[in-house]
Amino acid sequence: MLAELDDVGVDRRRGGYSRHVFEPAELALREWFREQAARRGLDVETDRNGNLWAWWPGPGDNAVVTGSHLDSVPGGGAFDGPLGVVSAFAAVDRLRARGVVVARPVAVVAFAEEEGGRFGVPCLGSRLLTGSLDPDRARALRDADGVSLAEAVAADGLAPELLGRDDVALARIGTFVELHVEQGRGLIDRGAPVALGSTVIPHGRWRFSVQGQGNHAGATALRDRADPMVPAAAVVAAARRIAVTYPDARATVGRLVPRPGGTNVIAAAVDLWLDARVPDGSGTRDMVAEIAECARDSAAVEGCSVWLHEESYSDGVEFDPGLRRHMAGAVGDVPVLATGAGHDAAILAAHVPAGMLYVRNPTGISHAPEEFAEPADVNHGAEALAAVLERLTT
Ligand code: GLV
Ligand code: MN
Ligand code: MN
Repeated sequence: MLAELDDVGVDRRRGGYSRHVFEPAELALREWFREQAARRGLDVETDRNGNLWAWWPGPGDNAVVTGSHLDSVPGGGAFDGPLGVVSAFAAVDRLRARGVVVARPVAVVAFAEEEGGRFGVPCLGSRLLTGSLDPDRARALRDADGVSLAEAVAADGLAPELLGRDDVALARIGTFVELHVEQGRGLIDRGAPVALGSTVIPHGRWRFSVQGQGNHAGATALRDRADPMVPAAAVVAAARRIAVTYPDARATVGRLVPRPGGTNVIAAAVDLWLDARVPDGSGTRDMVAEIAECARDSAAVEGCSVWLHEESYSDGVEFDPGLRRHMAGAVGDVPVLATGAGHDAAILAAHVPAGMLYVRNPTGISHAPEEFAEPADVNHGAEALAAVLERLTT
């Protein structure tokens, strides 16, 4: 089933896939979702926040919900997100083929903008649904072309004023299980095809906007410059230097945008985004505060100013231990993995019992075209998910 998506959103410039919410590739994937539901005779709906639901045998309370997301990071792999949605449909197929009669409804879900690739806030659809993102703030989010989320949802036929906590949708979720491609080497090292998730570490995104003075690269003496790229570079260097002082921390600057962006032009401004993740308590924000101090020091020396904005923050999450025991009962003695990656399941975990299954990724690479899962492991994952659904619904 995943192969049906091979041609959707191929990014010829960056490599891999770029599938951003409400853009043509992601809209094609939404259409694919609706077709999958129709092919199986499942009721399909789009909720107020742009999340897609397919129901078997029909919508209802205390549902066992499974799925993931269809969007990608820029230039991402084929598996992060779609594997969970495809496996959810495959698991429902397996239960139906076995003649399983479910005592609780099952829903396949595709959450909107999990990666935050277009509007910057990850898990946008699940945060809105659960009320953990202020809808006014969400409506005002803008993509790189200046289009607001309010405009994007309206263009897709949704009502921007209805974005926000959806008690009806939330009340129907009894349990949420997300299957996901593994994003590290955990399963390679353990020689197993499938694992259960235990925890997600705290993580967030911070935008640094550095203002300087645009000028001529040849005609401006070094002493006369206010070059915002210098404090921006200080952030990049400080991120690595400071992160190594926090146990098992991660700090990444994966996106840096100079304006106007010319080889022979001293930039007038640079925006850069820091993705920071520290396993322990308040460590993430503490680490960012240290990095920000380096940015301000460098900006002061260079005659620039720097403005810092926290675009998202998620506390650490431990998935529901009772659900994990049930899942282990269904899938047997498989490894249990903690992860540094964020997921919709971690957002939902604050509201309903949530759990995760990971499928081995033999490259150990994710958010890049090399992300992979062998067909036999994909099959293993779908079977494990079917076993979990069967246990939870019968
Ligand atoms: C999502 O994949 C994230 O952890 O950034
Ligand atoms: Mn991802
Ligand atoms: Mn994902």
